[in-house]
Amino acid sequence: MINLYSDTQTVPTENMRKAIAEAEVGDEHSRSDPTTLLLEKKVAELLGKEEAVFLPSGTMCNLIGVAINTSPGDVIMLESNGHILRSETGGPAVVSSVLTDPIDGERGQFTASQIEQRLDQTSRYRPPTSLICLEQTHNFAGGTVWPIGLWEDVCTFAKSKQMRIHVDGARLLNAVVASGVPAETWGSQADTIWIDFSKGLGAPMGACIAGNAEMIDKAWLWKHRLGGAMRQSGLMAAAAIYALDENVERLKHDHERAKTLADALKELGAAVVEPETNIVFFDMTSCGKSNYEFLQKLSEKDIQMSEIGNQIRAVTHLDIDDGDIDSVIDAMNQVVNS
Ligand SMILES: Cc1ncc(COP(=O)(O)O)c(C=O)c1O
Repeated sequence: MINLYSDTQTVPTENMRKAIAEAEVGDEHSRSDPTTLLLEKKVAELLGKEEAVFLPSGTMCNLIGVAINTSPGDVIMLESNGHILRSETGGPAVVSSVLTDPIDGERGQFTASQIEQRLDQTSRYRPPTSLICLEQTHNFAGGTVWPIGLWEDVCTFAKSKQMRIHVDGARLLNAVVASGVPAETWGSQADTIWIDFSKGLGAPMGACIAGNAEMIDKAWLWKHRLGGAMRQSGLMAAAAIYALDENVERLKHDHERAKTLADALKELGAAVVEPETNIVFFDMTSCGKSNYEFLQKLSEKDIQMSEIGNQIRAVTHLDIDDGDIDSVIDAMNQVVNS
């Protein structure tokens, strides 16, 4: 099976399993799991923040990030196809009692003036906007990378209006590799920022959220409250450390393979969103096939992709090599020409 459904589909390699097996562990609740502490230190340094805390999932990072940056009744602004809004079961509304004000972006990005236009409508009837959430890379826009200039404009504007900034960095390291801009630069104006280990980095689970000491203290309170405090979490922290040490630079190969796939799709006549990282969105209807039929035929050939809205998404990752991409291109040609 060639699984391009998502970069969450990777299974730990032998070496990662070895790192897990050999991890030194303790009780995370009482902050005495040495491997988790080491991971948190590493991530705080990487993201240029005072502290970080290990959480079971990226979804919990977003849930906690919103909780500690807002008060009930606040508005959070985010791009209208943002993961927080589309795929996290309304968590911010349920847990933090906030409203969401989606901004229609372009390729997952929006401008300071789009935020300003909304703030101009402020009146004493309107709830206050306290938080801007940014997603880097943007999943449902196609793994797109915010340009650093636009990112900094938006952050500087948000700060000038006393708004806080939360960064969903599920695939931040893909953006770092694609742009050459270091992780700490993307986080320099953020109050909270997190990275995920279970996506392109290939670990089985986990994410770390970072911020200043006061914010991470608050994050700990929520971690306990939500049941995210763990025990011998060092086993999973060891996988995350291994992933950070071994699997970041290689993301560039995922990006190259996504580009090869996109080029082949274009040659077949598909409508393709030009990939910037490891995610390819495309539509096969211009080739005379419905997306559903195309996916069915590929699945008969043991190739998995997903349908999102009226597009197909294919995601490259650690378990996909050049040979797999050649086989997928071959199979796609057969399906279109059959
Ligand atoms: C952009 C983005 N944010 C957050 C998440 C949630 O992460 P997790 O699956 O670790 O909960 C995902 C998962 O796909 C994502 O793509």
